[in-house]
Amino acid sequence: MEVDLSKPVEIAEETFWVGHYIESDIFQCHTYLIRNGKESVLIDPGSLITFKETLRKVKYLVNLEDIKYIVCHHQDPDVVACLPELEKVLPEKERYIVTHWRTYFLLKHYNLLTPFYLVDQHGFKLSLGDRELQFILTPYMHYAGNIVTYDPKTKVLFSSDIFGGWVEGEWSLFAKDESYIESVRSFHEIYMPCKEVVLHTVERLKELDLEIIAPQHGSIIKGKELVEKAISALLYFDYGKMFEADVLEVFKRKLQRSSILSLLKELALKEIFLSEILKVTFSHLSSIFPLEDIVVAISADESVYVFSKENGFFPKTVRNFNLEGENCVVFVNGKTKIAFFLSEKVSKEDEEFLREVANIFFFIARREEWLISLKEREKYLRFRAYRDVLTGLYRREFLEELVQQEFYRSKRYGYHFSVLMIDIDNFKQINDKYGHLFGDKVLRTVAGIIRKNLRKSDIAVRYGGEEFLVVLPHTDLRRAVVVAERIRKAIEEARIGKVKVTVSIGVADNSLVESFKDLVQRADAALYKAKRSGKNRVVIYSE
Ligand SMILES: [Fe+2]
Ligand SMILES: [Fe+2]
Repeated sequence: MEVDLSKPVEIAEETFWVGHYIESDIFQCHTYLIRNGKESVLIDPGSLITFKETLRKVKYLVNLEDIKYIVCHHQDPDVVACLPELEKVLPEKERYIVTHWRTYFLLKHYNLLTPFYLVDQHGFKLSLGDRELQFILTPYMHYAGNIVTYDPKTKVLFSSDIFGGWVEGEWSLFAKDESYIESVRSFHEIYMPCKEVVLHTVERLKELDLEIIAPQHGSIIKGKELVEKAISALLYFDYGKMFEADVLEVFKRKLQRSSILSLLKELALKEIFLSEILKVTFSHLSSIFPLEDIVVAISADESVYVFSKENGFFPKTVRNFNLEGENCVVFVNGKTKIAFFLSEKVSKEDEEFLREVANIFFFIARREEWLISLKEREKYLRFRAYRDVLTGLYRREFLEELVQQEFYRSKRYGYHFSVLMIDIDNFKQINDKYGHLFGDKVLRTVAGIIRKNLRKSDIAVRYGGEEFLVVLPHTDLRRAVVVAERIRKAIEEARIGKVKVTVSIGVADNSLVESFKDLVQRADAALYKAKRSGKNRVVIYSE
């Protein structure tokens, strides 16, 4: 439900939210107004921070003189600190502050002029012409004399701090669904002292015919079903967290963790690569854990895909893989393993949290695994169909198809990508001198040497008669030159049938090129230079 928070929001008939929304505050404070002619009621007027905005909204709805009652559920500053200011702006008129005697004992210290209407002296009721507000004492929720207000006419419960929530992330005035109860939990477990106290309140609330709960914090709970769920949920919280050494720390940690989990769940439902999700997760987790690395290993066929921080969370294929280490927490699910490498030992509670993270990753990994196996199968078929018969290298016709995607990925994710253009020196003379059969042998041997010097992820293509193109993903220019030089040297030393065969190699990388075609052209230009400057050498492309 999209609502305009700059204006009063009608939450029930003639009942309005007149609060002041504070951006990115996890503890939103709300004030409500029952517009009831000359007997209008302001509920929990608010603090000095919210006062100005609340006053603006109230003025928009009623004449200030019509505010006859100001209900104060308890005496916390977020509820009542604006009272002296409010007193100054309200026109002189018969008016009461409605509260419980215990709260009165404290509020009187504001030295207010406005008289009090003590609910305990009036049978916990306040008559407003055709409607009658009821008050319920809810002791120690969280203040000793805490009360809440029920309006049978609209079936709204103004619940004070009860059902309030600390909401991190996206806040909405109306609770979207029962997920809001989690925010109620975090707040209540710390603020409400024990279950005995809650039992009393729950019993009283269950007697009411409720449609809306309007708390002083968090979101408004609307709808019978959600209201009932929220009331019952109170019974299952783990109260009394105020005894923990540092409550705020505990709470903060809980919030951080639950926001990481919800972020992950959200990402898991989108079609985002595991590598991307891992990067995000790593940065989030390392802000709350002594995390050194996350390693996800997915087995597909015979190889294992390993994602780790070391290789930027891009998948790396390995044959055997062991996940071991001191303070390493490993989770296994089928063929997938997830390891969290930590610099120190973590608690059982931390491990439980990591297990929840791992479970989400298992889900994401299963999807990825399926994609990988599909890709692998496709690759395998291409391996067979797309090979050059003589050399066993790829055929040029399929070059674009084979590398285009990898090339664009390299541009998108900013990793290095190099190519080598290799040409056998004086091949025509060799052919003429030793015959075509020998020429074929030279081609096969050179292709074999090239392949032997490449990694599994590199791609070698027979580009022309005696020309070869080698594609080196994740390889910068410096590494590419090392590979080129190794190939050049190995061929020179091979002495095919006692004949010295040499190659010239042009090298280029993907910096400042827009397309794969441009990249090949650059390597070609470098090769041309290598030929012209005496052959049997490696030349890097330059403008
Ligand atoms: Fe409070
Ligand atoms: Fe409060």
